[in-house]
Formats: sequence, structure tokens, C-alpha cells
Amino acid sequence: MPQHRITLLPGDGIGPEVTASVVAIIECAGVPVQWDSYFVGAEAVSRFGDPLPQEVLDSILRNKVALKGPVTTPVGTGFTSINVRLRKTLDLYANLRPVKSMPNIVTKFENIDLVVVRENTEDLYSGLEHEVVPGVVESLKIITERASTRIAKFAFEYARAHNRKRVTAVHKANIMKMSDGLFLNCFRNVAKQYQNIQADDRIVDNLCMQLVIDPNQFDILLLENLYGDIVSDLAAGLVGGLGVVAGANIGENGAIFEAVHGSAPDIAGQNKANPLALLQSAVLMLQHIGEMDAARRVQNAIVKILASGPEHRTRDIGGRGSTSDFTAAMCETLRRGTRASD
Ligand code: NAI
Repeated sequence: MPQHRITLLPGDGIGPEVTASVVAIIECAGVPVQWDSYFVGAEAVSRFGDPLPQEVLDSILRNKVALKGPVTTPVGTGFTSINVRLRKTLDLYANLRPVKSMPNIVTKFENIDLVVVRENTEDLYSGLEHEVVPGVVESLKIITERASTRIAKFAFEYARAHNRKRVTAVHKANIMKMSDGLFLNCFRNVAKQYQNIQADDRIVDNLCMQLVIDPNQFDILLLENLYGDIVSDLAAGLVGGLGVVAGANIGENGAIFEAVHGSAPDIAGQNKANPLALLQSAVLMLQHIGEMDAARRVQNAIVKILASGPEHRTRDIGGRGSTSDFTAAMCETLRRGTRASD
């Protein structure tokens, strides 16, 4: 079997613990990977004076795939978030967040299975702000035909590849007729090329209300950057929060699969961290590199472990287990699954 070469960025706080767990589980799933591991964030600053050394970017550009743990970002002072820098420098234009209900994670709704696709590079996140006159500030919302078209194509291609039936564009084109209007028109133009996938749209405020009343009516949601930032967290909350959902940033130059929670300094080094969010991201990564069978087996093992006793789940999701208990249970389930199919 050919070996995959993947850049590994363990990050800070609980990052090294959750990445070690996920690396071990991927090995137990029998996927051959050579990991190129680098320090980023606070640890890289203390060693090299730079939270994101150039060799990290070079490695991602070479390998095209990275798995990243959370990074501590100092508040008020110090370096700016490397997450934004990575997305901008590598032009990772698509933010992908599948949101699915999990066994034994109790929430208001059952059987949620939706995907949030967020444009990652423009909108109000272009950082173009200035003071027009004292007391008046302007923040520019940039929407382009190019970026709106490529993210719409990404959403429809994802729908096609994953056998999804519908893409819903989310906007405020009733008020921002030009900018959100352009985003919506690009979506409608792209939709014409995908006749078998249903395409419709919702105004963002209505969508938020609908999501908390009846989330099961949606399939794939496509949003600009700011709406996507907010709605993807709302959607994560529907299935148990940021500790259980996957996140990926994908572009032509590469893809970074990451945990969306932070570095949790309060529990770092105590074998308490839950690797589930990073593991869910690793499942997306396995799909991305074509390891469909391994992705399916890991996903099935997650469902089995969560449905089993509390000793295999970490405390943040109501269990009694440690990081290593979860890792060992996952590996045992994967090995048993392999033996059963031998
Ligand atoms: P946080 O997500 O690190 O922690 C919030 C709470 O959730 C804490 O009680 C923590 O123990 C718990 N928690 C988080 N992840 C967990 C896991 N996997 N297992 C069990 N419990 C978990 O958010 P906080 O405290 O606001 O941020 C801490 C640091 O992380 C900050 O420096 C922040 O800038 C950074 N951060 C980094 C992110 C990234 O690199 N993607 C994202 C969010 C925050």
C-alpha cells in the first residue's frame, strides 16, 4: 500500500495529546502514513521566535495535506492567530464542517446530518477597515464573482461526491442587494450545471430560526465568510458543541484538517482531553486522501465507542475515561473489526 505523507502540527496545550491519540488510531486503522511533525504557535515562538515558521508552510505545500491541533493565541498582545495566516497564505478557500448527531451525546434533536460550507477568504474578513473621520469607521465587505463561484462549485462537488441531495445558499440579498446578490447569482449559475442536486436559498436570519426549530430539513448549507462563521458554530451546538465536530480548510494548494476547539490549558497534560473533534477531522482527511474504507471503519468505531460504556468516553461528554482509555478502546474496536472481516 503506498504511504501517505502528511504534515502534522500538534499545536499547544492539549494539542500534542489529542494528535498523538489520533495518530495512534490512524495507525490502528492500518493506514500507512509518514508524518512530518512541526512546532507551531506558542511552542514555535519560544523555540524559533515565529509561531508559523516558513518550513511549516513549505511542508504543507509539498504534502498538500496537514492535520493540526489547537494553538494558543495570546490575548491582547503577542502574535496574531496562525489559523487566519494559514488560510490566507495557502488560499484555503473552503471551510467544511459536517454536523452529525452522535450516540450518547444528548441534544435537543436527533438524527441531525447536515454540512456547513463556508467561504473562507473574503467578505468582512478581508481586514479592510479604516476611520473615515473621527468617530466614523468603515469596514469593507468584499464579495467577488471568482470566490463566490468557486465556493459554490465546491459545495455542489461535495454534494455529488457524498451523495447529498440539496444545497441551500444562505444570504441577506434582500438588504445587501449587490454583494449578497452577487454571491446568490453565482450560486444560481453554478447550480445549473448540477441538475440532479436540488438548489434553493434562505435569508440568513430566517435560516437561523429554522435551524433551531427543525434542523433536519437541511442538507448542505453554503454561506459567505461571516454568516458561515456564526452559523457553523450554531450548527455545532445542535450536536453537542465544538468538542465533537470536525473542521477542514481546503483549497487548491492543500488542505488542513483541524480541531475547532482551543488548546484547553486548564486540562493540558492531564490525560483528560477528548480527541474526538480532531479524530472526526481526521476522518474527513482520510476521505480527502482517498482512504474511504479506513474513514468508514474509523467512523463506525467512533459510533460503537460512544454507544458503549462511559469508561471509554472522556469526562467532557459525560464519560469516566481518559484520553488513553478512548484511544485504546478505538484501537481495540478497529482491530476487532479487521479480524471479523478477515
Ligand atoms: P478552549 O476550547 O481551549 O476551552 C474551553 C473549555 O472547553 C475548557 O474548559 C476546556 O477544558 C474545554 N475543552 C476544549 N477542548 C476540549 C477537549 N478536546 N477535551 C476536553 N475538554 C475540552 O477555549 P479557550 O479556553 O477560550 O481557549 C484556550 C486557547 O486556545 C486560547 O489561547 C485560544 O486563543 C486558543 N484557541 C485556539 C483555537 C485553534 O487553534 N483552532 C480555537 C479556539 C481557541
